[in-house]
Amino acid sequence: MRFNIGTWFAQPMSQPPSWHLACVECGTTYLGLELRYRCDCSATLDVIHDLDACNLTREILDSRLASKNPLDRSGVWRFRELILPLGDETLSNIAVTRGEGSTQLYDASLVGSEIGLSNLWLKHEGENPTGSFKDRGMTAGITIAKHLGMKAVACASTGNTSASMASYAAISGLEAIVFIPEGKIAFGKLSQALAYGAKTIQIEGDFDDAMALVQEVCASEGIYLVNSINPFRIEGQKAIVFEIMQDLDWQVPDWIVLPGGNLGNNTAISKGLLELHALNIIDRLPRIAVVQAAGANPLYTAWAGGENLVPVKADTIATAIKIGSPVSWRKSMRGIEALDGVVTEVSDDQIMDAKALVDATGIGAEPASCATVAGIRRLVDEGVIKSEDKVVGVLTGHLLKDPDVVVKYHTNNLEGIKSQRANAPISASADIDEIRRIIRQ
Ligand code: F0G
Repeated sequence: MRFNIGTWFAQPMSQPPSWHLACVECGTTYLGLELRYRCDCSATLDVIHDLDACNLTREILDSRLASKNPLDRSGVWRFRELILPLGDETLSNIAVTRGEGSTQLYDASLVGSEIGLSNLWLKHEGENPTGSFKDRGMTAGITIAKHLGMKAVACASTGNTSASMASYAAISGLEAIVFIPEGKIAFGKLSQALAYGAKTIQIEGDFDDAMALVQEVCASEGIYLVNSINPFRIEGQKAIVFEIMQDLDWQVPDWIVLPGGNLGNNTAISKGLLELHALNIIDRLPRIAVVQAAGANPLYTAWAGGENLVPVKADTIATAIKIGSPVSWRKSMRGIEALDGVVTEVSDDQIMDAKALVDATGIGAEPASCATVAGIRRLVDEGVIKSEDKVVGVLTGHLLKDPDVVVKYHTNNLEGIKSQRANAPISASADIDEIRRIIRQ
């Protein structure tokens, strides 16, 4: 262990209930449905499942793929015993679901061949109901909010969490309050928060300022916080990797690669993998690679330097991951260590080049998602990922989340970015001969 990043499994309580919350640092345990996001010592919490009592198998999970039960049709609640173990009857009554998950795992050989890999898949989380992976954590977070009798939910967001929260709050009749950094979120995401009816507060500051404020407001106003500091959000997000494994017929790849911002998603993926392995549903563990934007790289710096995380002032074109003080960094590092993982960083230029490549193969994703592919390329170039390794990259959000950046890229209007794959629109008069000339060129 290079870091003091806490325990993975909790200390036993004198009378442990089947599942509970546990502090990642001191191990203190709390009841599963206790309304809290932090331990009394202020560190974050894990949901600890009673894996001995969990009888999930590949066969049970595969049989649910053909089921018409709404829980089974959700790519999150299909794995419910490892998400929120309240039993089928209760969950059928309380789950707030939009049928999230069941996203495509694309065979991305066109992208792979360009970046030196023979086996690359891309799991497109942009195909979730609100266009990002956040819906997986949100279905769990909002279900708990309703179950605990909360009336309002809130989050700080670079855009996708707010879009997701606003939607899930609206369908379940909860009031939604979002805190976003002013002028710094992509328009697709802002439009969703407004359209779904969330009270949208634009903070004169960055995401990290918004995150600090929302925690204070939730504590004083009795509002339920659904940022990924909320341990149930992490539980829902684990379903990405459960589904990847099921998509691959439980054959474990060598690597799972994803972008890192507030670091909830990689925390979730590591936790989910360790649980599947403990249950013998998978027979080995993949390695994990977390990719940060070079302008928002506190985890990369801490990882490379072997020190505690030092917050940075974040700046990157990938606004979704423009985060300088990630809340879940201890949990995140613990998971990366457990999976023999690595952390890398990529420049905005590399992100946009990878994005143009992913987009042009017809798959498409928002900039932060494509940090994944830029990171894979770097790790292949460095020999960390071998060309024959089986690699799954996670694309976290939909291409249409940030159309501005796409049009600016293709018209060569992004400051500091070389648009090497630009596909600019061609202006033409409404003249058939001119159009024929353009087509034949
Ligand atoms: N990719 C996208 C598209 C995101 O929206 C985010 C985070 C990440 C990657 C990073 O995931 O935070 O779990 O490490 N977006 C948050 C938001 C912060 O507010 O929507 P992470």
